[in-house]
Amino acid sequence: FSVALRCHGKRCRPFANSTLNKAIPRPILIATSPLAKIQKRYAAQAGASNGTWRPVSVLDEWVAKEARPISLRQLMVFGRSLTESRLISSANYVRTELPVRIAHRIRDMQQLPYVVVTNPHIEEVYQLYYKAFDTFRKFKEIKTLEDNEKFCEVISQNLKGHLTVIPKLAMGILECGRLMDPKELDHFMNVILRSRISRRVIAEQHLSLTETFNSPYFSPGATLSESDFIGEVFIKCFAKDVISRCAKAVTQLARSTNGPQVQVPEVKIDGHLNASFPYILSHLEYIVGELLRNSVQAVIDRHQQQPDHASSPPPPIEVTICEAQEHVIIRISDRGGGIPRDELPYLWSFSKGPQSQKRLENLGQVPRMAATMQELHVTDELGRADLKAPTYLGSLSTLTSRPPNLRLGMGLPLSRVYAEYWAGSLNLHSLEGYGVDAFLQISRLGNKNEQLTTRASMDA
Ligand code: COI
Repeated sequence: FSVALRCHGKRCRPFANSTLNKAIPRPILIATSPLAKIQKRYAAQAGASNGTWRPVSVLDEWVAKEARPISLRQLMVFGRSLTESRLISSANYVRTELPVRIAHRIRDMQQLPYVVVTNPHIEEVYQLYYKAFDTFRKFKEIKTLEDNEKFCEVISQNLKGHLTVIPKLAMGILECGRLMDPKELDHFMNVILRSRISRRVIAEQHLSLTETFNSPYFSPGATLSESDFIGEVFIKCFAKDVISRCAKAVTQLARSTNGPQVQVPEVKIDGHLNASFPYILSHLEYIVGELLRNSVQAVIDRHQQQPDHASSPPPPIEVTICEAQEHVIIRISDRGGGIPRDELPYLWSFSKGPQSQKRLENLGQVPRMAATMQELHVTDELGRADLKAPTYLGSLSTLTSRPPNLRLGMGLPLSRVYAEYWAGSLNLHSLEGYGVDAFLQISRLGNKNEQLTTRASMDA
């Protein structure tokens, strides 16, 4: 098809010709006469009596519902004193919320140009999403702890099954870079990734609460202390501790990928060393880990090019923590020479960039990805992982492992999606020939709702 067939408003019909799954509605949208014949043929194949489109009312029904966003504070308050009835309410919130959130993204996909949505990678994600949508919308109301156990099984299976989503989407988007306005593609990718994070947060939070509830040490209604996690939410996340642990992990990674002889820059931390805030630890580790990884590698590469590099250590990476009334800002400054001019316009793009072909090749080697620091298999001298791995991921580390030196080219844009999801921001300033300053702003009070819709920075 050289013609982009677009989804027609809200209606869609079963795609009778699909070799994949006949029950899954496919986006076929054709409006005017040159294509009317095809439209009719498909309609007839679908068994529509008079050749008109059959509405897929079930999806429409769910798309019509609004997502109900939550804040970190709500997650904490809700999980702070856990009882059976709270656990059951949590289960039913997830049961009804997941299909709403997935339905919106299915509709977004249906509205992509036909050539994009039929890209095999995007199509695979579409099928996966439709299946998950169907599974969750059909799940009966959860009334007992036994129902909840079954529900948790389904969530876990879906969390594992959806580990292919990030590499698939990333490959699809790169392959479609020339078929659609890259800005629109990037916008689509940002929304779909943000929504994915949101679904995983509510699903993982529920699994965590269930795990807490089932623990032999748990007494219903008991209130947790400040230093604890409530589900996946780390109540008092100290910026300095997270940065130190990520720096250690990134240093080990740099040694293993550049060789033990290489001089790795020191990471110095100053500023408000006691700053803390509630956050999902794995999100913060991912962002800080990616920023430090970029800085460390840039400094190593630049230092190697200096004639006297063997006799002098590389310049340190300086991290400053600034605690303001509503935000914590983390600035990461390196002297790695700045970002090459040809890469600057594509820094935040999933769909375009000078290394697109290489990125595609590398992504092809990563069938599954959780987008956490843990999956890079960072271990200490004793072979132990240094970062807290989410429990549900524990047994998955081998499933998601990827060669740590592969550059997928999405660390920065994905970090920004994570930062903006909890109403924060991520920006870079490159000083050509000198280095980069990265600014990560985090909402400190945990009272901001998850940001499910468009990215402010993209719309600007
Ligand atoms: C995703 O990872 O994309 C999900 O939607 C997970 C959810 C179905 C539990």
